Amino acid sequence: MNVDFLVIGSGIAGLSFALKAAKHGKVLIVTKANEDESNTKYAQGGVAVVVDKSDSFDKHIADTLVAGDGLCDRAVVENVVKEGPQRIQEIIQYGTHFDEVTNGSYDLAREGGHSEHRILHYKDITGFEIERALLEQVHASPNITVLTHYFAVDLITQHHLGVFVNKHSEDITCYGIYALNTKTNVVEKIISKITVMASGGAGHIYSSTTNPVIATGDGIAMVYRAKGKVRNMEFIQFHPTSLYNPGEYPSFLISEALRGFGAVLRRKNGEEFMQEYDERGSLAPRDIVARAIDNEMKKSGDDYVYLDITHRNKGDLLKHFPNIYAKCLSIGIDLTRDYIPVTPAAHYLCGGIMVDTNGLSSIQHLYACGECSSTGLHGANRLASNSLLEALIYAHRIYTQAVTLFDRIILPSTIPDWDDTDTHLSNEDILVTHNLRETQKVMSDYVGIVRSDFRLERAMRRLKLLYEETEEFYKNTKLSVKLCELRNVIQVAYIVIKSAMARKESRGLHYTTDYPFHADKLEDTIF
Ligand code: FAD
Ligand code: SIN
Repeated sequence: MNVDFLVIGSGIAGLSFALKAAKHGKVLIVTKANEDESNTKYAQGGVAVVVDKSDSFDKHIADTLVAGDGLCDRAVVENVVKEGPQRIQEIIQYGTHFDEVTNGSYDLAREGGHSEHRILHYKDITGFEIERALLEQVHASPNITVLTHYFAVDLITQHHLGVFVNKHSEDITCYGIYALNTKTNVVEKIISKITVMASGGAGHIYSSTTNPVIATGDGIAMVYRAKGKVRNMEFIQFHPTSLYNPGEYPSFLISEALRGFGAVLRRKNGEEFMQEYDERGSLAPRDIVARAIDNEMKKSGDDYVYLDITHRNKGDLLKHFPNIYAKCLSIGIDLTRDYIPVTPAAHYLCGGIMVDTNGLSSIQHLYACGECSSTGLHGANRLASNSLLEALIYAHRIYTQAVTLFDRIILPSTIPDWDDTDTHLSNEDILVTHNLRETQKVMSDYVGIVRSDFRLERAMRRLKLLYEETEEFYKNTKLSVKLCELRNVIQVAYIVIKSAMARKESRGLHYTTDYPFHADKLEDTIF
């Protein structure tokens, strides 16, 4: 199969790029599950953007920089914030609805780290609404084909043409991907002039996450294997408030917008505690709130703290948070009367595939946008609701550059098919499941909110064994999605640990008891 533009992933990043590129050439989207399955679909709070007169670009820029704890790229932050209103207007034109107070004036929510109410939202299911509107446009576009249940396995580069490639090679070039058609179990070759990685995050390297099961870091692992650069992978954002509901996996998110609406965190005995950690209280940036809850749980030995919104009017709560209300009620918690038990869970990957201001990775003709990418916007800690915005802006940047390039790109005349000789079908898939659970447990136990050299070394030793076993299995076994995902999870976990070991300081989301302060020098971690 040959295409002009190949997009891996059907979340906000992939779909919004595809809609634009389709005006210029043929676009193929491959996505590993149902077309709407993505982190995007579950986004609750909304999109941070300056649309109100009382707000300003300067304030949004300042809030992003403060949350990022010194490591944001200021120029990137300024560009993203200032371009926000334009990109939002486009998705409104695609048919996305945001809640309004009156016709044309938006109901703006507030979240942790924001100095203003600036979050555009659709009730508490903003991502579902965006995904719906984008997919509707995609279905109406004759130049876009969506292949669901196609799993991108590896990037095709010169390596597959027999050329030696290592991390020092210049001009590594992407010619497309090998993808597993999970309906036929055949690995197909998809050749493309431009490839856009929009494969999302990696919450499932941990045993507790708000991310749906697709979030296994596949794109990042693929780029790393192809010797591309990844950056700042130690910065894993734990959302402070996932619903404590033992046995539920993934965890259900209780949006930060609820704290923006007045909810406060309390100890089991009812005491408020966030003021003891930060003057911004329950609305401090996420790294601070998650660490405070972690500390409270360690002190008390409890598995959760409480979130209290009982003082707000029932009608207002139902209007703004119908999804969260219904979910809590389904497990016997009436949030208009009861405290909600909450606990932190892995939520967002601030690092990822390193890209320039056009979204171009270190591999030629390979772009990346959305959660799998590292643009410099988030620094050491993403400001709430900045990720949907970032995805829209970088999808647009990539589009602007890629459409000027694609028809000049000449592809190699022969690219080999996937070779799976000497591999056999596995009759021990349970080993894959065991190794996945073990990896997730190692990450949750030793590479969580509070780290130390001792814990990181311990994690690395255990991961090494899991890596060796899995690679051995991979070499001899016919591909399956589970096996590929396990391999990717282990590879991404490895980069997270290696990055965490390399950062000899505490900054943003990376807190280590061995180096509790900022280092004098600001540095990215690049592998
Ligand atoms: P995704 O939306 O995750 O899409 C990735 C796509 O890639 C999926 O279609 C997936 O199936 C596909 N894929 C992955 N691997 C492969 C492969 N190997 N082969 C083929 N396809 C593959 N951010 C905000 O800004 N505001 C919010 O309010 C907000 N709320 C959130 C709430 C929750 C519960 C979660 C989990 C996240 C939230 N976020 C929020 C973060 C935000 O939703 C994500 O960062 C963003 O949606 C990522 O979009 P994306 O297009 O990069 O990736
Ligand atoms: C939330 O609604 O709390 C999630 C917002 C985000 O992750 O940006």
